Amino acid sequence: MFYYVEILGTLPEMGKAEVEALAELGVGNVEKVDYLLVSGSVKHIGVFERLGLAHEYGLLLYEGDDIKDILDFAKGLEWRNIINGTFAVRRERMRNCMHEVNDLDKKIGGIIHSQGLRVNLSRPDTVVRVYCGNKIWLGIRIREFKGKEFEDRKADRRPFSRPIALPPRIARAMVNLTKATREVLDPFMGTGGMLIEAGLIGLKVYGLDIREDMVEGAKINLEYYGIRDYVVKVGDATKIEEVFPGKTFEAVATDPPYGNSTTLPMDRNELYKRSLESIHSVLEGRLAIAFPADFDARDVAESIGFKVLGRFYQRVHSSLSRYFYVMEV
Ligand SMILES: C[S@@+](CC[C@H](N)C(=O)[O-])C[C@H]1O[C@@H](n2cnc3c(N)ncnc32)[C@H](O)[C@@H]1O
Repeated sequence: MFYYVEILGTLPEMGKAEVEALAELGVGNVEKVDYLLVSGSVKHIGVFERLGLAHEYGLLLYEGDDIKDILDFAKGLEWRNIINGTFAVRRERMRNCMHEVNDLDKKIGGIIHSQGLRVNLSRPDTVVRVYCGNKIWLGIRIREFKGKEFEDRKADRRPFSRPIALPPRIARAMVNLTKATREVLDPFMGTGGMLIEAGLIGLKVYGLDIREDMVEGAKINLEYYGIRDYVVKVGDATKIEEVFPGKTFEAVATDPPYGNSTTLPMDRNELYKRSLESIHSVLEGRLAIAFPADFDARDVAESIGFKVLGRFYQRVHSSLSRYFYVMEV
């Protein structure tokens, strides 16, 4: 079946890569990108329930260049087979919109209504989507990812809170970029943000932190968000095999400390290098890891034996920019 995903404008390249990773998990691919709309075909569309950097996803019905063609297509569809209950047509003009679509939502709504379906503009059971970009896209929304769902897990909303955590949508995307289907390790877990996102999509989560208070706090947070399948320990990310003897991990997603803090037993770059070595020795698949932009992880990672699959830049504020790397062993 064909799908569309409307990604967020904040980290679009990373958003596209997340869709690609999930499409592959769902036995499919990405075929087209039109500004913030990503589409392709997939066998298991439910994989997109995991998305982090997206506004919504749905079933793609039509893609084309011509208003008349889309109206003819809409007239030819048996909407009763697609729409359950009431409906509304919602139109989105993306920044690159090239077509005159001002009343296209009303025209498509009229066609669907003429087949006997009822409109409910404020609380429709089904949302029919029209996007205008380089092309015109028509779909049925399956799920909208409301900001609030993720906001409720922001650092300052967790029972154990420290201002060190990544935004939950980004943490979720990092987990997805690893393509994990069973388990994830975060060897710098802090308050557990990455593990919360991984746990909520059904993965078994493993974590460690050098600070005992973080480990206790991460447990409180994991329990609070309903995550039960976890193992968290005090330990050093440069010696993972000592903390989990004999264990290897399907995937690692992590956000090491950015500064030279007093808790670090060594220089920051040395910590990054040694933890990458330790991760490499226990990893079976993919790693998603954030580093400050002034540390170029590529050479270090490649000399250890990682293949760097991609990296995505983000400027957080005037004194912090970072890259999110995706690597595999
Ligand atoms: C940027 S924070 C991680 C934030 C985390 N993603 C969260 O949701 O809270 C980095 C964490 O790494 C921990 N840390 C520093 N050095 C470490 C080491 N050698 N081994 C394990 N953890 C370490 C710090 O205590 C801190 O909690």
